[in-house]
Amino acid sequence: MRAWTRARRAQGETIAFVPTMGYLHEGHLSLIRGALSLADHVVASIYVNPSQFAPHEDFETYPRDTERDLSALESLGCSAVFVPDTLYGQGGAPAQRAWIEVSELSAPLCGASRPHFFRGVATVVAKLFHIVEPDTAVFGDKDFQQRRVIERMVEDLDLPVRIVGLPIVREPDGLAMSSRNVRLSSEERLRARAVPQSLELAERLISAGELDVDAVRRQVRSHIESAGGEVDYVAIVDPDSLQTPDRVSGPVRVAVAATFGGVRLIDNRPVDPRGA
Ligand code: PAJ
Repeated sequence: MRAWTRARRAQGETIAFVPTMGYLHEGHLSLIRGALSLADHVVASIYVNPSQFAPHEDFETYPRDTERDLSALESLGCSAVFVPDTLYGQGGAPAQRAWIEVSELSAPLCGASRPHFFRGVATVVAKLFHIVEPDTAVFGDKDFQQRRVIERMVEDLDLPVRIVGLPIVREPDGLAMSSRNVRLSSEERLRARAVPQSLELAERLISAGELDVDAVRRQVRSHIESAGGEVDYVAIVDPDSLQTPDRVSGPVRVAVAATFGGVRLIDNRPVDPRGA
């Protein structure tokens, strides 16, 4: 993989990289299209990274369809796809000894209920950056906290990669596209619309002048719960530090995680009280 990149760079060509765990949907494909406008070549990777799953999570059953993914990537104009069997050598992820911890940004939101998640993500993304050596790497805002963790890693470790974030792609009814959506029953799928709706509710409340963070969070939570969702968190945070203010006084990210029928969904939305 590295030889491929270096041969292109020797020709004066640039590379944009889109890391994925496969089972690609329109959200992933929008990143590929965005990446095509940022560099001469786009490289994607498909790797379900074991180190970002806890033992009780869905690593074994994570949906996979590499043949379909490869044909979608080829028809979009991807120059190369990196599909490693493993990135952890003998013993797999449990034998990895060097890890990247991005403190502070990894602790709140998804990090609270998934304490090793961002360590696994940051470490595998750093490994992929060293293997692919891209000029630019593209991430979706669906995983907003993940993008912030990667940006902080790149900044603090002086990695020579430009990070670009692209907007969330949604189903026609508003649900953020996710590889895990296929696991929702048709009834759960309908109820899950409460997740994006709850973010719109937060935006309406803040626009109407409700600037008390806890008051907005309570209403967002009860909107999801009344649709039968089990809330992991509702957060209203500063988009840079991911810290929770008492009151909304500038642009914030409203972010939620909730489970419907055992399927964990995440979503977020930028809200600016001044622009609203
Ligand atoms: P995965 O969940 O496959 O997502 C790959 C990329 O697609 C991420 O940047 C994610 O934010 C983006 N994405 C997913 N759904 C999207 C949507 N509806 N709209 C826009 N972008 C979307 O995120 C991972 O894989 C992994 O953690 C990874 C970075 C590959 C490291 O293992």
